Amino acid sequence: MKDIIVLGIESSCDETSVSIVKNGREVISNIINSQIKIHENYGGVVPEIASRCHVEVINQVTKEALKQANMTFNDIDVISCTYGPGLVGALLVGVSYAKALSFALNKPLVGVNHIEGHIAANYITHKDLEPPFLCLIISGGHTHLVNIKSYSEFEILGKTRDDAIGEAFDKVARVVGLGYPGGPKVDKLAKTGQPNIELPRTYFDNLDFSFSGIKTAVLNLNHKNPDINKADLCASFEKAVTEMLVTNSIKAMKQLNVNKMALAGGVSANSYIRESFKNIEGITVYYPEINLCTDNAAMIASAGYYNYINGKISDLTLNAIPNLKIGE
Ligand code: KG4
Ligand code: ZN
Repeated sequence: MKDIIVLGIESSCDETSVSIVKNGREVISNIINSQIKIHENYGGVVPEIASRCHVEVINQVTKEALKQANMTFNDIDVISCTYGPGLVGALLVGVSYAKALSFALNKPLVGVNHIEGHIAANYITHKDLEPPFLCLIISGGHTHLVNIKSYSEFEILGKTRDDAIGEAFDKVARVVGLGYPGGPKVDKLAKTGQPNIELPRTYFDNLDFSFSGIKTAVLNLNHKNPDINKADLCASFEKAVTEMLVTNSIKAMKQLNVNKMALAGGVSANSYIRESFKNIEGITVYYPEINLCTDNAAMIASAGYYNYINGKISDLTLNAIPNLKIGE
């Protein structure tokens, strides 16, 4: 079979990324231009600034991706881009750019759901991973337990009823004075502390999650006891949220009768969470390599490849859908 080379574009939040991937699994180049340094000044992503930054760099990031791959546009078979969920202005930059490339080069256009992209990051890292499996997507904007029935069929089993887990990590980091983005900083500080502070866990009779209770508990504790040991607080927070993730994941695997699961999304870079899932007996757990956990275009090109070979091809009416749901 002829190789299929996909050029992927990601611009849903604060990373402008362009990647070239062969046959959905082999990364040839993956350029990520992060705006973290700019948004750091504001303590979070400022949507207007994010859009402007994407516009400024997308052309250069694309040229760099081609250069590193030692390719020209002639070598590309398919153009894929994230079209949701995400910030509308940010998404529109990638979608418009992808549409322009598709039209000018006369190459097929494939829209990709960002969350399905996070799942596909696992296909790049684990060449042998094939559906069906359970996937826990934990990122700055999402917390979903998903039954991956095939490369293009998804069933949501549970999701957060309030904050995404990454939002909770970022908020905890901010109140204990670690700054933005907080996840990696909480991860690092927690390693020096003990999980000895009692925090609430929230469970429902289905597989949904809730992180607002624990987030508020951390905020209140920190407010009432300004001298509280921050490392212990971070370690206790990580332990509690991980327990909720593990409990629901085990329940979901029993429900599906599978013993194979993957983690995906920015928070799956967390070392305590990775270690805890690795220690669950009787299951095989996969997670993407660290640089494919957070937003990148390689995962979009991989998901784009599977959409393409399954006939899910877009046209020039493709638009940004900020609240796009998985499986839509
Ligand atoms: O997947 P991602 O790049 O963006 C979304 O699609 O939302 O995830 C970003 C989130 C942020 O909340 C960030 O703090 C968190 O992932 N994150 C982490 C770690 N690295 C990134 N959270 C906990 N531990 C980490 N090591
Ligand atoms: Zn993401």
